Amino acid sequence: MMGEWLVDGRESRSIGVDDRGLAYGDGLFETIAVRGGRCRFLPEHLQRLMDGCARLRIPPPDQAVLAKEAAGLAADCDHGALKIIVTRGAGPRAYAPPTKPRPLRVLGLEHTAPGRAEYVQLGVRVRYCEVPIGRNPALAGLKTLNRLEQVLARSEWTNSDIQEGLMLDDRRCVTCGTMTNLFMVADNVLQTPVLTEAGVAGIMRGKIIEQARAAGIETRELMISTDDVANASEVFLSNALIGIWPIREIEGRDYARGLVTLKIMRALCAIGVNECDV
Ligand SMILES: Cc1ncc(COP(=O)(O)O)c(C=O)c1O
Repeated sequence: MMGEWLVDGRESRSIGVDDRGLAYGDGLFETIAVRGGRCRFLPEHLQRLMDGCARLRIPPPDQAVLAKEAAGLAADCDHGALKIIVTRGAGPRAYAPPTKPRPLRVLGLEHTAPGRAEYVQLGVRVRYCEVPIGRNPALAGLKTLNRLEQVLARSEWTNSDIQEGLMLDDRRCVTCGTMTNLFMVADNVLQTPVLTEAGVAGIMRGKIIEQARAAGIETRELMISTDDVANASEVFLSNALIGIWPIREIEGRDYARGLVTLKIMRALCAIGVNECDV
């Protein structure tokens, strides 16, 4: 349950019923880890939000205002998740965007307990989802408010032994998890699905690629099949809140936590992703 909310800078839990974010998912969001009273990787999250606004032609909110509001909410929170939502704002019925949109910004802070150490230490169990992820270069990479594919995919299982589901596109390319990005290691090369057709370009994904390259680990973005995943020596998941979860099993195929994964976890830990302390 979210604790504190700001709607256009005011304490509130309400938005207008004619908001296009509600009607059409016409907007974007960010989920940011709050640790020790600070928003982790805030500039990167704000940059993705600005890029998303530019691609959707939503007038971007003032970054300084967002940063100030985010910092204010995070200040008294030791461990939490901060959500920033930006919508195109109110509009008359019909899809055509208003010629002069007045975007809405919503920020909310949820205090959370630290994640389960066993997922980091021992890894997680994962399945493949049946709901395909749609390909659309106009939306690929963006964290839009349209998350129905993830909602349907996540409703495919209730078994709490399974922590994540992997999503395939219509070509059966493995694209992402429902709430994570995917990485695998084959021949000592770090590989991750290319996200020009679908998926969210995760902030943690970006950090992992940056840290891997800095550590001299060859890194590639490419199309990945289920066979590629089955033949990989290491597989792991990432997002802004969990850092990295090594995968220990995908539908009966077991994986050991490997040395490349460990090296990247240590590098992330050194830049403030304390969840990766192993
Ligand atoms: C569908 C999807 N892909 C990827 C990610 C990872 O993105 P980030 O690293 O910015 O958390 C998320 C995060 O929630 C997600 O929902």
